[in-house]
Amino acid sequence: MTNPGHDHVDPTALERALVLDTVRVTEQAAISASRVAGMGEEDLVDQAGTETMRRILGELEIDGRIVIGEGERDDAPMLYIGEQVGKAGPHAWPVDIAVDPVEGTGITARMVNGAVAVIALAERGGLFHAPDVYMDKLIVGPPAAGTVDMSWPVAANLQAIAASLNRDVDDLTIVILDRERHAELIREVRAAGARVKLIGDGDVIAALSAVVRGTNVHAVMGTGGAPEGVLAAAALRCLGGEILGRFAPRDDDERARMTAANVEEGRVYRTEELAPGEQIVFSATGITDGDLLRGVKFFGGGARTHTIAMGLKSRVMRFSDAIHLLDDGARVTIQV
Ligand code: FBP
Repeated sequence: MTNPGHDHVDPTALERALVLDTVRVTEQAAISASRVAGMGEEDLVDQAGTETMRRILGELEIDGRIVIGEGERDDAPMLYIGEQVGKAGPHAWPVDIAVDPVEGTGITARMVNGAVAVIALAERGGLFHAPDVYMDKLIVGPPAAGTVDMSWPVAANLQAIAASLNRDVDDLTIVILDRERHAELIREVRAAGARVKLIGDGDVIAALSAVVRGTNVHAVMGTGGAPEGVLAAAALRCLGGEILGRFAPRDDDERARMTAANVEEGRVYRTEELAPGEQIVFSATGITDGDLLRGVKFFGGGARTHTIAMGLKSRVMRFSDAIHLLDDGARVTIQV
């Protein structure tokens, strides 16, 4: 993809230009949300993360269009679907953007593990415009990609995942959102012999944990938000994992939204359909501690953040541990 302001054609140009910018976007959103974490105020957390994310996006050399955001224009004052963000202008990168400034609002308000600030960017058309309905998901790492199937019984998929990792089913841990609707799924996973790790919120970062070895998470199963499915797909494209997603409307209103978005009910969408971009940039910063990322820690004069960022074509995944000096002239002693 080319930038209209530049005459060269470089398949990694967008990613190289924007990956560090996206890190700044999620770092700052995470710091803002963390400032008001633990107060039991979900709206405050959401507002802090969203306002900051929008402000930083406004400083970037992009002609950005929000395709996954805080909601429809009428419901969300900021980062709504269709909102234009960025400086625009002749040197701006035309990009589609998926955001969740606080992925896990409830757990941030309660300071429970697993909340992140997250963004994905791609060239125009590079991210699926998923309506905000539920999606049944099956998420696995690179070894199991292509070996699982949503039409199979849970036990058969667990067998496939275990085989791909060269271990037994009883050595698997499966992440599932702690919801009443998952009672039968949880029973089936446990009956097959695998462990279930229940999470309160946050299936995007859970997807990354399932794909990165060493987290002791081997798959994510169950029903969560479809927008979160697109965000996860963007990261999974970069990491080589797989998400299988089936939109799961609950009523006619959601069915109408799916029809308007050209989404087929009953069809299983694959990773490349949910994030078809040729250039993708993804960044997530921990708000509260999690399996993959540490949460924001404040100290006198500053804050420390932990981020994972990656690009599809550039083939680089970065973990960054950053110290932000928030007060001018603050003198800090950095501790490792
Ligand atoms: P928020 O970003 O709105 O806090 O959503 C968090 C989340 O847990 C997602 O990770 C998940 O996909 C979805 O909500 C599940 O929805 P529900 O809470 O309705 O079960």
